[in-house]
Amino acid sequence: NFSNYVKIVEVGPRDGLQNEKKILPSTVKIDFINKLSETGLTSIETTSFVSSKWIPQMSDNSEVFKNINKKSNINYPVLVPNLRGLEQAMLMGVKEIAIFSSASETFSLKNINCTIDESIQRYEEVITQAKRDSLKIRGYISCIAGCPYEGDIKSSAVAKLSETMLSLGCYEVSLGDTIGIGTPKKIKNVLNEVKRIFPNQDLSNFALHCHDTYGQGIGNIYSSLDYGIRVFDSSVGGLGGCPYADGASGNIATEDLIYFLHGEGFITGIQLDKIVDIGKWINNELGRKNQSKVGIALLSK
Ligand code: HMG
Ligand code: MG
Repeated sequence: NFSNYVKIVEVGPRDGLQNEKKILPSTVKIDFINKLSETGLTSIETTSFVSSKWIPQMSDNSEVFKNINKKSNINYPVLVPNLRGLEQAMLMGVKEIAIFSSASETFSLKNINCTIDESIQRYEEVITQAKRDSLKIRGYISCIAGCPYEGDIKSSAVAKLSETMLSLGCYEVSLGDTIGIGTPKKIKNVLNEVKRIFPNQDLSNFALHCHDTYGQGIGNIYSSLDYGIRVFDSSVGGLGGCPYADGASGNIATEDLIYFLHGEGFITGIQLDKIVDIGKWINNELGRKNQSKVGIALLSK
């Protein structure tokens, strides 16, 4: 008797844009987030307060966050890699942050220039400060199903890091298949390991963050429902990728995810037709092909 309600975390404005070469004007990003705010979504990852040398597309983080129309029933989380990012985010009145580490040592070095342990030390400080100001904190773990540099990643490493993040005070851990190589068997393997650490509870404080590089996103999400996972990250139009993960293509498209969930009888509260239109619009703005199969199908009707 798990819940029938599924929460979608729209990561298009952050994950969706961070790897795009073409720098979008801030006004377009603001329009993008404002449009998404009218669809029934309750969580929209807005930007990241990271180094603009590392992620040029996010250099207008403050400008974007400041100017979006914030609705009281929507969370607008932002990525924060260190205290500097937290301070910047807090100046803008951010209420929810996401910290991000990895189950792969090499990916951690490439993505945030420190080891996994160093990242946790850094995040301890970030979390202490953020909690003092009553911010909500979400945690990401990358490379749960494999790493672009190291290949196989032990599921036990994912489980251990999950435990650390929750004990530090993250309200939810989002498990990232950064390069989309997992199949349901692998995902279930990871979730079984996580369950060994939390044997007496469902995994309702976990989310799944699937990139759809190998077309496995929906299958992987389907396989996680039995574990009680009811939060999924996705990008409208299938935007997305990580510049420090070669071969990482877009997140599972929000359109495809909603079509699947509604078809299976789940409630999301999100209007699919509006999401489809936004997917078309943002892909046009980027001069990019729509990556959502559901979007393409519904738009050609
Ligand atoms: P570093 O070079 O080790 O740090 O980078 P540093 O402290 O030496 O600083 C270097 C420069 O950046 C300095 O500027 C700092 O001031 C500045 P300079 O003095 O040279 O002019 N700096 C900052 N500027 C703005 N905001 C900040 C900040 N911090 C330092 N917060 C650092 C370390 C963590 C900063 C860097 O590696 C970084 O920004 N990495 C972010 C990479 C990133 O955003 N990757 C994509 C997101 S993760 C992802 O996509 C995966 C996910 O989707 C889940 C999944 O799919 O698996 C979440
Ligand atoms: Mg991602």
